Amino acid sequence: MNETMQASEELLKGLNDDLAAEWGTIMRYTFQSAKALGLRGAELREILEKEIPDELGHARYLTDVISDMGGDPMMRARDWERVTELKPMLEMDLKMELGDVENYTKHAKLAEELGLTELKVKLEEMAADESRHARELNRILKGL
Ligand SMILES: [Fe+2]
Ligand SMILES: [Fe+2]
Repeated sequence: MNETMQASEELLKGLNDDLAAEWGTIMRYTFQSAKALGLRGAELREILEKEIPDELGHARYLTDVISDMGGDPMMRARDWERVTELKPMLEMDLKMELGDVENYTKHAKLAEELGLTELKVKLEEMAADESRHARELNRILKGL
């Protein structure tokens, strides 16, 4: 296998891990919205309900691109912890959003090395979305 093919395989594997993470996030935020109670919970619920369509958009884009690259899109969610208490829940979400930023940034670089400009730009946009999600979660966390 030559270097380009190896890099392309690595990217495909990375994108499939990202996709599993997105499915997990969609499920996690849907679950957490249902469990968010009280005034602060209502605030969180509002934020999560706005983020779910973003994550679904990410998942749909990744599914398309993996398929277009000849891969088999991951249709299983990464496992996630059923935390229902507000603070630990938000701390976990923040950690996961920051992890997503890191992964998308890493994979954007890999896409750039392979000359995949559209993918690179789109992954950077997705990193920016996750970064915004992290900022919003952080704002609630600071008030707890
Ligand atoms: Fe996402
Ligand atoms: Fe996110």
